[in-house]
Amino acid sequence: MQAFRYLSTQPLAWNPRVQDPTHLNLKPRNPTVRLRSPPTICAVATTPPTPMKTQKIHPSLPPDKIEMFKSLESWASQWVLPLLKPVERSWQPQNFLPDSTLPFDEFTEQVRALRDRTAELPDDYFVVLVGDMITEDALPTYQTMINRLDGVNDQTGASPGPWAEWIRAWTAEEKRHGDLLRTYLYLSGRVDMEMIERTVQYLIGAGMDPGTGNNPYLGFVYTSFQERATFISHGNTARLAREGGDPVLARICGTIASDEKRHENAYARIVEKLLEVDPTTSMLAIADMMHRKITMPAHLMFDGRDPRLFDHFSAVTQRLGVYTANDYADILEFFIERWRLEKLEGLTGYGKRAQDFVCGLAPRIRKLQERADERAQKKEPHGVKFSWIFNKELKL
Ligand SMILES: [Fe+2]
Ligand SMILES: [Fe+2]
Repeated sequence: MQAFRYLSTQPLAWNPRVQDPTHLNLKPRNPTVRLRSPPTICAVATTPPTPMKTQKIHPSLPPDKIEMFKSLESWASQWVLPLLKPVERSWQPQNFLPDSTLPFDEFTEQVRALRDRTAELPDDYFVVLVGDMITEDALPTYQTMINRLDGVNDQTGASPGPWAEWIRAWTAEEKRHGDLLRTYLYLSGRVDMEMIERTVQYLIGAGMDPGTGNNPYLGFVYTSFQERATFISHGNTARLAREGGDPVLARICGTIASDEKRHENAYARIVEKLLEVDPTTSMLAIADMMHRKITMPAHLMFDGRDPRLFDHFSAVTQRLGVYTANDYADILEFFIERWRLEKLEGLTGYGKRAQDFVCGLAPRIRKLQERADERAQKKEPHGVKFSWIFNKELKL
């Protein structure tokens, strides 16, 4: 029971034998965070979704677990830090953008070429790319999240240990993603930058609650899952850009996707190590995160107008096949395989039940999704206006 005490206040809630399977409904939902819209304060702007005060706070890790993360420092130096790229070997946004130091004519010619390339890309593609860019741009929220994790956080802001070093350098690598996409979108002239910038400001102000609290077991499961989700979605926006006639944007999205893959590898390695040194707690953490469902980092997205902006953005990503409910199940299956969860040994009784739950989850998710798809197909498509593309309407 000990392991549950700091993982969740709902032990066995995910036990498939006692749990109503409807909790696997793939609509974004967090059992501890309910969204509400406070009363409208002005005629035009609606109000953002805000989490109510029922969020779960995880008690701090016990000292022996903190000590365990400390004891993994030399391992992290050897196996995690090498997955960062030195600055001198890193790409920078400028490598993909028109060169403003060129004579004015040449610079504007490069901008014109960029606009020609993006001219044929459809509006729904831009909605997806903008949503991805906004998600990347809320990076301060993610650094804050990782820095909350007990035993691995950056105590001084410039701490020398490998965990703290990873967090800072990972953030520095990630920073380039939003910067590059933002500048490219700005130069394309296809999107309403002011509405995008407002959305970023709202989103960073709102934060996010991934349900990990300050627990590093939960935190690293979450980041493994998220990095793979972004790897998939940037990979798909690369493919669509190539098909839509913009090979440079394809290269941009593909380059970002390969960073995400490297990051996924780092976080997945950490979870792999945790499963080796502390199998039951780690298995319970995976079950806990899968039970509450992996919340998308930008779930509190708002542009000042559409209180369901995140749902609408997600519907477009699903329709374009950039990130779908099937990808979610695929990611779970990928990690079951990568972490060899079915063969994991040394588990307590609770750990084994968590293992059964996680290893049997993907088919259940797919079945529920099939039913949701059937229901969705029976519905008439409805129009949704997106402020990011000058209030043009898309059919969802
Ligand atoms: Fe990123
Ligand atoms: Fe990432």
